Amino acid sequence: MAEADGDVTLDALRTALRSANSVFVLTGSGISAESGLPTFRGVGGLWRTHRVEELASPLGFARDPELVWTWYNERKAAHVRAQPNAGHYALARLEEAIGDFTLATQNVDSLHLRAGSKRVLELHGNLREARCTGCDARRRFDADGLPLDQIEHFCGGRFRPDIVWFGEPLPPAVWREAEAAAARADVILVAGTSAIVYPAAALATHYNERAFVAEVNPEPTAISGRVDCVLRSTAAELLPQLLGDLELPRPT
Ligand SMILES: NC(=O)c1ccc[n+]([C@@H]2O[C@H](COP(=O)([O-])OP(=O)(O)OC[C@H]3O[C@@H](n4cnc5c(N)ncnc54)[C@H](O)[C@@H]3O)[C@@H](O)[C@H]2O)c1
Ligand SMILES: [Zn+2]
Repeated sequence: MAEADGDVTLDALRTALRSANSVFVLTGSGISAESGLPTFRGVGGLWRTHRVEELASPLGFARDPELVWTWYNERKAAHVRAQPNAGHYALARLEEAIGDFTLATQNVDSLHLRAGSKRVLELHGNLREARCTGCDARRRFDADGLPLDQIEHFCGGRFRPDIVWFGEPLPPAVWREAEAAAARADVILVAGTSAIVYPAAALATHYNERAFVAEVNPEPTAISGRVDCVLRSTAAELLPQLLGDLELPRPT
């Protein structure tokens, strides 16, 4: 682990990327902070006045679906108002230069997709669709969110956000793809996550002992002591800088 000299560590990451055939990126809410979306721990609004289980768990939803949808509708509106930042765009550019590139995100804000990333694994779901707890019917919703009088489905179930809540398993196919991508990567880039929400955090360090692992985060995290290079900077500052002098060949 090297933290002393930012330029040296950035160069080490550039060198690793230039010879990488396969790159795996793991992002968390920090990458969207500079788009104006609050991180998990730095938040206001309902996170402050309600326990997380009330807003983001199957039990909380069963107890008060209107409260849960009010919260997610607010978040959806914030996501739609937000714009991808330079960090999201830099990762979309990196994907164009790497033959085997996978981006797994814990975010549900769709900003990677809006920035042009293509191989995106949304580990915790997304806020584009609702699905019925009874019959699995799906419906899209937009910036206005899901109207509270349309939560109940005629089958007797309820529409819920297509989000992985606390205590729920990750979507198995998405998880398998993420595990495989992490395992075969030559470089693993971890940006904007505190790396404490499992199993997502395990993708950074548990599947691959060979890869060069770099962390982009202004604060120390649970994995800072276990990675090959730590870049103490924000994603929107550092990722464009990283790409700036990288001069990667385009895959043929
Ligand atoms: N935008 C979203 O979709 C969103 C927002 C909030 C929470 N969540 C959910 O919250 C859970 C929390 O895990 P997490 O690790 O993603 O969030 P977290 O709040 O635990 O960690 C955020 C990390 O980002 C770092 N950070 C803050 N600003 C940054 C910046 N500008 N550039 C780079 N890093 C920055 C912080 O130092 C911190 O380590 C996840 O399950 C996620 O699904 C998602
Ligand atoms: Zn139904």
